[in-house]
Amino acid sequence: MVTARLTVDPAFAVAPVDRRIFGSFVEHMGRCVYTGIFEPGHPAADPAGLRSDVLDLTRELGVSLVRYPGGNFVSGYRWEDGVGPVGERPRRLDLAWRAIETNAFGLNEFMDWAGKAGVEPMMAVNLGTRGIAEAAELVEYCNLPAGTAAADLRRKHGFAAPHDVRLWCLGNEMDGPWQTGSLTAYEYGRLAARAGQAMRKVDPTIELVACGSSNSGMPTFAAWEATILEEAYDQVDYVSLHNYYDPTRLDEASFRASAVDLDRFIDDIVATADHVRAKLRRTKRIRLSLDEWNVWYQGNFTEPEDRPIAEEPPHLIEDDYTVTDAVVVGNLLISMLRHADRLTVGCQAQLANVIAPIRTEPGGPAWRQTIFHPFALTSALAHGTVLRVALSAPAMSTERYGDVPALDAVAVHDAEHGNLTIFLVNRGASAVPLDLDLRAFGGLAAAEQVTLTDADPGARNSAAEPDRVVPRRVAPPVLDGGRAHLLVPPTSWHALRFTLPASS
Ligand code: AHR
Repeated sequence: MVTARLTVDPAFAVAPVDRRIFGSFVEHMGRCVYTGIFEPGHPAADPAGLRSDVLDLTRELGVSLVRYPGGNFVSGYRWEDGVGPVGERPRRLDLAWRAIETNAFGLNEFMDWAGKAGVEPMMAVNLGTRGIAEAAELVEYCNLPAGTAAADLRRKHGFAAPHDVRLWCLGNEMDGPWQTGSLTAYEYGRLAARAGQAMRKVDPTIELVACGSSNSGMPTFAAWEATILEEAYDQVDYVSLHNYYDPTRLDEASFRASAVDLDRFIDDIVATADHVRAKLRRTKRIRLSLDEWNVWYQGNFTEPEDRPIAEEPPHLIEDDYTVTDAVVVGNLLISMLRHADRLTVGCQAQLANVIAPIRTEPGGPAWRQTIFHPFALTSALAHGTVLRVALSAPAMSTERYGDVPALDAVAVHDAEHGNLTIFLVNRGASAVPLDLDLRAFGGLAAAEQVTLTDADPGARNSAAEPDRVVPRRVAPPVLDGGRAHLLVPPTSWHALRFTLPASS
């Protein structure tokens, strides 16, 4: 067996961890909202109908920010339908998912939920069937204190204080032919610039996210980003990235190596944004918002056009995640951390039921899927500055990416509190011996190790067995003069924490 080597040095700082990368996403889709986070009458529902069991799990997951209300849903949504007296709200056909939207849950219910969950709200505006005026008015409703029609309407609806939403998405996946009101890159770039300008006239302090490509496989990928940024560079702060990794359409090894694809995707968007920066002779750098990412068994998905209109919240893409999926999710988080200098917002899609870490049964329990655990632990432990690591590891062969290292890792250094945490995966199917070199730190005192792996990489959690797969605390590697040796099991994710003398 070839031994891998991992060297970590505090000098190789990338950037501070931005807590916004631990975001999630709540869309009016399937059972994410209805019977997910919101279920009046459920035994665990609070007086507002919010499921307290799901709120507890959201806090435990360590979610920092939540994008709302879509997704494809937002491109046909009228935000006014979801505010004011519930009994007066209209039933509408949701064009994205062909489901009846009762509007029993809307903007103010979401803000109430976000406050209780302790998360920052990230709002998306409809640039599919609507435009500049409605987007600006929504900012006015959310962020102005009083004295204008929209702000006073919010107050009339019982919310005296502004919601003060900082982060706004200018539409959703506007390059996608499936998107209601999809546009060409030029059309979207102009619209995003003008909508952003108007929204900033209402509140100059908001941050704006332009839609990047729906995924890196889109025919217009990168050309889309170049064109829209040429039109909207001065108005926006972020460009979005969306990517889902599909075990049904990739060979097993390529799926396990999904983070290789995410690394390339991020690097390509950074290069494209910086090309536009050079061309326009600007100093500002555009940041990246990976505001939809996850594992999604897309091969099992039925297109909305092929389904009858749903009266009840339909069970849409309720994927059951395996141990392998959890390792892939842990690896995608490693990739995100590695790019902390440019990628500062991330939203795992979605939070509850719909390709989600949290699953619920209507009227029944809520439980943690396998993918819950690497997210929760990374969010809990990744405080401080990301460090670039030097890693050499045996190769694994993949159909899509060729030979890639079987191991991947990143480190986060919290000098203030004296912590060094290494996040490590073995995405291969064989154990790999690893030599760890931490000599550059000096005086490492203690360590703990939390590991997610299983003899059955296909094991899943369920309502009947919610804790079939859980992370386990294992004996940490023994340090000898700043060096350690460990055997990294196949298909495994690890957080290794070392304590250092805290800096004075
Ligand atoms: O998260 C599910 C859907 O995937 C979103 O609505 C859309 O933005 C993406 O294509």
